[in-house]
Amino acid sequence: MSGDAAVIVVKVGGAAIAAAAPGSGPAAPPPLADVAALVRAGRRVVVVHGGGPEITRLGERLGLQPRFVAGLRYSDPETVAVAEMALGRVGRRIAEALTAQGVDAVSIGGPDARLLVARRLDMRDEAGRPVDLGLVGEIASVRTEVLFGLLAQGLVPVVSPIAAGLDAERYNVNADDAAADIAAALGADCLCLATDVAGVLVPGSDAPLARCDPAQARRLIADGTIGGGMRPKVLACLRAVGAGVRAAWIVDGRREGPVQGAALQLPGAGTAFLASASGGPAPLHAGDGDGAAVRATYERYVLGTYARAPQVLVRGEGTRVWDASGRSYLDFLCGLSVTNLGHCPPAVVAAVAAQVRRLAHTSNLYHTEPQAELAAELVAMAFPGRVFFCNSGAEANEGAIKLCRKAAWRKAQARGGAPATEVCSFEHSFHGRTYGALAVTRGYQEGFGPMLEGFRELPWNDAAAAEAAIGPHTAGVIVEPIQMEGGVRPADPAFLRTLRALCDRHGACLILDEVQCGLGRAGRDFAHQHYGVLPDVMTLGKALGGGLPMAAFLARDGWTDALRPGDHGTTFGGNPVVAAAGLAALRLLRDGGYAERGRVLGERLRAGLRQRLAGCPAVAEVRGIGLMAGVVLGTDAPAGAAPAAAERCRDRGVLINATAGVVLRVMPPLTVSEAELDAGMDIIAECVRDAAGGARAAAG
Ligand SMILES: Cc1ncc(COP(=O)(O)O)c(C=O)c1O
Repeated sequence: MSGDAAVIVVKVGGAAIAAAAPGSGPAAPPPLADVAALVRAGRRVVVVHGGGPEITRLGERLGLQPRFVAGLRYSDPETVAVAEMALGRVGRRIAEALTAQGVDAVSIGGPDARLLVARRLDMRDEAGRPVDLGLVGEIASVRTEVLFGLLAQGLVPVVSPIAAGLDAERYNVNADDAAADIAAALGADCLCLATDVAGVLVPGSDAPLARCDPAQARRLIADGTIGGGMRPKVLACLRAVGAGVRAAWIVDGRREGPVQGAALQLPGAGTAFLASASGGPAPLHAGDGDGAAVRATYERYVLGTYARAPQVLVRGEGTRVWDASGRSYLDFLCGLSVTNLGHCPPAVVAAVAAQVRRLAHTSNLYHTEPQAELAAELVAMAFPGRVFFCNSGAEANEGAIKLCRKAAWRKAQARGGAPATEVCSFEHSFHGRTYGALAVTRGYQEGFGPMLEGFRELPWNDAAAAEAAIGPHTAGVIVEPIQMEGGVRPADPAFLRTLRALCDRHGACLILDEVQCGLGRAGRDFAHQHYGVLPDVMTLGKALGGGLPMAAFLARDGWTDALRPGDHGTTFGGNPVVAAAGLAALRLLRDGGYAERGRVLGERLRAGLRQRLAGCPAVAEVRGIGLMAGVVLGTDAPAGAAPAAAERCRDRGVLINATAGVVLRVMPPLTVSEAELDAGMDIIAECVRDAAGGARAAAG
């Protein structure tokens, strides 16, 4: 992460706030003076504050009787309202103190713009019994774009730890926890908890521990060395570090300097919690700077089903990935259209980290919150119907094919006669590599016969041939609105409309495979929205899990009854961790307007490539819809020019691939910047010219 991109999250507590009280003099309280100095030095800082004493004082003045359960404060709606009022005042005072230091700051409550959303805290006593603390919450999501927006305007957001509920309530959240979750969501470089002690103290030493790795911290908690009020602070630090924050610190907020020292990673600032003892990511293999040992391990132990590129990729952020030697690449392939929202979007990382800590797996014998929410939001985005979650695109298509045959069988059961069983697909299609999916993916069948029965391949974009082939014997038709592996080939609108009409006429199920072209890639939420053709079943995968393996099929109302209990299943599908990732990714896609952004940037991509490749005789066409481009090499190009061009691009720091032999597939993330897009296009165009022939363009 580059220095100027780094975000620092500083939590300030009661002592700092008391000192910031009006009339306390011109000097800012120490942690706020540090924050102001960091901002003046160009750092981006988010402040999260507590305010326990203020809440107690205001409560007393309003005659509120505090109530305790198991030694902990119970929050009813009045308590939360008083806390919100008191914290709002505290936040404004902090913002004013920063402004007085020449730094523009703005106080914002967690419920504002639903910046912080919480669920009820699942509190347990020592025997594991639930303890009802009322409206005490834990953060479920952080709308990072709100904070990034304020930071981009040069403002310091000062956040009050109250959160909107997933239900209609408002929740009190612990300020240290809120700061940790915000730091994790922002992908912050540093979390700094300013307290009224010098750091974590251990017996036998007056000085606080300088560094503490997670294993050591857990030992110290287990043996009671870290206890009392320090324990939750340390746990918050460990959570943040576990979720990718580079370092979390507990520092003395009574003195000027420690907060700055922590942000600058200076020894002696307090106690630092680091992901590994060295403070950096754990080395992959000692002395393996270019990943040679990893490649050798693959060669010995991993089946050779891929012609892999030599790069060993170790890290990703936004549009870029890094290899083991530290070299970075513009990723215009997105792991085959999976990381469509960039690598490691902080909202997805935070959702995964929070969920994996809470509940990783249940099987589908039970209900879980993330799967329910994701299903509801997917259906709201797509069309009225119901969802089945699975793990890969191939599985989604397997399920869809099973659904269409079972639906035909149920119809035949009801009406009498033999069921329709035939399933039609189209040439160049790619639906996956398991036997059912392979049955509709002709190009990949060689040597794997016998294939399943009852499948038929039809010519692509040929409405007349479809008309002749589809009839009462047809159970389903499976088609990609845009064939992606097949060479970035959009369907003709009239062809897709004909398929819809034929399926309607014969009661067959129209399955649209949007595993690769769906979820914003085509410049709409779903590619079929370009065509005005609704599927009966839509399959999704790839980008659905925000980078985690997840897929689904959605059956439209009218088709949801075909599969009944026992008809289909999966152990992992829609597991809470991937569903939490999927939910965070779906919300990001929807609320960030990324499909529309993809549409606009896609125009720029294809126009930019056409312009840069103008006059290149080897290029027959640049095609696509939304944020994708297929650079099609024609008969003038030498054999093997497309893979050679992709390889050159990789050598020059841009990841793309060749598909269908002659098509270069370019799929940057929907979050790509215009500057990244232009830089990538320059390199791609030069590499195509170098590999396929044709002098370089004189100007970009
Ligand atoms: C359109 C389409 N359908 C299905 C699949 C299979 O998905 P998976 O590799 O996750 O099984 C792919 C994979 O590229 C695809 O592009």
